[in-house]
Amino acid sequence: MLIAQLSDPHIRPKGELYQGVADSNRMFEEAIAHVHALDRRPDLMLITGDLVDEGQPAEYAMARELLSASRIPVFVIPGNHDHRENFRLAFQDHPYLPKTGPLHWCNDDHPVRLIGLDSCPAGQHHGQIDTQGLAWLAGVLAQDRVKPTLLMLHHPPLMSGIAYMDKYRYMEAQPLEAVVRAAPNIELVLCGHVHRTMLRRWAGTVLCSCPSTTTEIDLQFAPDARPQSHIGPRGCMLHWWDEAHGMVSHVSHIGDFAGPYGFA
Ligand SMILES: [Fe+2]
Repeated sequence: MLIAQLSDPHIRPKGELYQGVADSNRMFEEAIAHVHALDRRPDLMLITGDLVDEGQPAEYAMARELLSASRIPVFVIPGNHDHRENFRLAFQDHPYLPKTGPLHWCNDDHPVRLIGLDSCPAGQHHGQIDTQGLAWLAGVLAQDRVKPTLLMLHHPPLMSGIAYMDKYRYMEAQPLEAVVRAAPNIELVLCGHVHRTMLRRWAGTVLCSCPSTTTEIDLQFAPDARPQSHIGPRGCMLHWWDEAHGMVSHVSHIGDFAGPYGFA
């Protein structure tokens, strides 16, 4: 299987820019085209939150319009910029999404099991999953301790070292960590939110965050650094899995670059 992961497109109403500067809609269109132009078409496309910037219906309408170009089945989880009920309405034809409550879901239709978590408490920017959500996750994981599994949540449950992002991190990660640690078949935990690639050994598995298709949040370690981002290298991730080789993850940059140059 080849699984594409896109994250944080921050789609705006048609004709509007993200933060007044970035044409996030065009960039998302280019990201979808990028994934379709690969020499192997991914079997699935995951989008790990912040599909839109302000949770507005007009943004979700634009998201659906842009996603209609995809020939690849799409699976979505919300981010802190999404609005849970507008998100649910926009993706009501996605049968894996629950009709009420937090948007936690599990899909068992593929050789890799997919579990999506809703780490977004209403009206908040930090991440958190309540006791019921964690109990749901523990129950779903207990149903299958063998099949390779991808777990997705928008907020990385760790400190990034970037103070202005850590303010909005997943809070009190230890209960989630314990649930994940009990499931040895979780190959990867996939996140968005930080608009950068980040890796960490976590809960007995590997956690990675995906670049945004739109902007790159600046990497600054000073505790008082001012929040800022660049329209820098955009990218997506490609998770390649087969039974013999396990899961291997690549970052694939989106844009035009010099080359190709052959080598021997
Ligand atoms: Fe974001």
